[in-house]
Amino acid sequence: MKIISSIEELRDQLRGQLRTAFVPTMGNLHEGHLSLMRLARRHGDPVVASIFVNRLQFGPNEDFDKYPRSFQADVDKLEKEGVYVLFAPTEKDLYPEPQEYRVRPPDDLGNILEGEFRPGFFTGVTTVVLKLFSCVQPKVAVFGKKDYQQLMIIRNMSKQFALPTEIIAAETWRAEDGLALSSRNGYLTEAERAEAPVLYQTLNEVAQEVRDGNTNILEIERRAMEKLAKRQWNPDYVSIRKRDNLQAPSASDFAQNAELVVLTAAKLGNTRLIDNLEI
Ligand code: PAJ
Repeated sequence: MKIISSIEELRDQLRGQLRTAFVPTMGNLHEGHLSLMRLARRHGDPVVASIFVNRLQFGPNEDFDKYPRSFQADVDKLEKEGVYVLFAPTEKDLYPEPQEYRVRPPDDLGNILEGEFRPGFFTGVTTVVLKLFSCVQPKVAVFGKKDYQQLMIIRNMSKQFALPTEIIAAETWRAEDGLALSSRNGYLTEAERAEAPVLYQTLNEVAQEVRDGNTNILEIERRAMEKLAKRQWNPDYVSIRKRDNLQAPSASDFAQNAELVVLTAAKLGNTRLIDNLEI
């Protein structure tokens, strides 16, 4: 595997490649990330991964400085997956001058759910993803459903800008007890780690109620939030939304059996976890 930090060298290395499959990450790789590498390999060749902890998508009070970094372990894992190039730019490489041009997602997608609680987050994500796409020029790029709203926003961006990159969705990789793997799970204490699967259990309970025909989504969401709060969680949201645009379903959406997803974000101690489940 070639490890490249400069944009110019990356371009030289990938020149003439027409079927590149790309997996952007922020490192501290786990099985979920590696499942994306495997999916990428089924959709293109060569597979290019990136590791870049993108300052633009972190709020002033978020964990940019203490975001877990484990570069050598990541390299070993990517080697084993047969990744051809790891693009690992420094901040100077990717942002040699302040990134003043940004991609701002539409408010009705970028400022709801995660965007409501993390202002500017999705602008930081789309800006770096567009820039990474411009560096790698992939035919396909793989994103996890774990970050459901991120996946949808990137897909829409790619479509609206007519980017030549097809966005492929990977299923959420979970621990045996249901907890979605995340780089941030490492922040959990032992007691919190034991409690953490309750988030996914709650999503399953919500999904079951909806499948059983309860259309009072505000009531279902409120009860789920209360349950989490009683167990010492600090939930930001539990929201039942339409899969295609992440807006709340109306009565007529229920009548037409619109496809739904339930999304959540909640803090356990100091760690903020997100998860979702298609209903
Ligand atoms: P990061 O959190 O490192 O995630 C990189 C990719 O791995 C994303 O597409 C994410 O959805 C996926 N992923 C994370 N955990 C997963 C799991 N348990 N199962 C399946 N896929 C999972 O998301 C980012 O980085 C950044 O926002 C990025 C897109 C790289 C832009 O900076």
